[in-house]
Amino acid sequence: MKYSEQIAVRSRAEMDLMRNAGRHTGEILLKLREAARPGVTTGELNEIADGELKRRKLNSPFLGYAPGGLPAYPGVICASVNEEVVHGIPGSRELREGDILSLDFGVESGGFHGDSAVTIPIGPISGKAQDLIETTDDSLTEGVSQMVMGRRLSDIGSAVQKKAESGGFSVVRQFVGHGIGRNMHEPPQVPNYGRPGRGQRLRVGMVFAIEPMVNLGSEKVRVLDDEWTAVTADGELSAHFEHTVAITDHGPEVLTRVPGSH
Ligand code: MF3
Ligand code: CO
Repeated sequence: MKYSEQIAVRSRAEMDLMRNAGRHTGEILLKLREAARPGVTTGELNEIADGELKRRKLNSPFLGYAPGGLPAYPGVICASVNEEVVHGIPGSRELREGDILSLDFGVESGGFHGDSAVTIPIGPISGKAQDLIETTDDSLTEGVSQMVMGRRLSDIGSAVQKKAESGGFSVVRQFVGHGIGRNMHEPPQVPNYGRPGRGQRLRVGMVFAIEPMVNLGSEKVRVLDDEWTAVTADGELSAHFEHTVAITDHGPEVLTRVPGSH
């Protein structure tokens, strides 16, 4: 883990642009969530998101994203169903009653980014799936609560891990949260695990995307031949929640939270 990298501190004006990007992200994610029901395809949800981006004259940081020689990402959302952990490519797959769907969405607005994800039930789901979703959301809340001046970077992941494992679940190691601002992915890496009290001190003006991925079974994941879709190695369910969160004088500010969202 690289703890030494420079973490950006946002000015008041920059923070207002981040708030705006965060609000758009949250509003559009909420629309997707409302549209997701049995019979709808993940490709149709991608179309809805694309329409909202165009209407609001915003850019997608997901579309065409190609880190480290990966093929360009072909959607404006990620839609990961059941055992898919993250980066599910939207397409012809129809949602079915009993599925759980992880929706991940981001925008670029005025040079700044928002990034957020939520896992939702499609119709009635099993008790264990419900428990997984609730615990993953709670683990994000625990991580967010550490976004306070003076805490250390590893306090975030430590709090996430403690909550997730207290429910008997495992946290994914292979993907981590991240700094966010002028780029969707900036230093530092924000793991969802670790010992507390390590790494850089958190300062007012830092903004991180905290994004626990929590598995019902083993933490192990593998990536499919499309080079994007990550699935659990054991085929068990996985959930993903994410918010873009700023550290302010008065504590954590969840920039991607809008009324009605997680
Ligand atoms: N929220 C996701 C992440 O931070 C963004 C996915 S990038 C994409 O990893 F290219 F897959 F869209
Ligand atoms: Co992210």
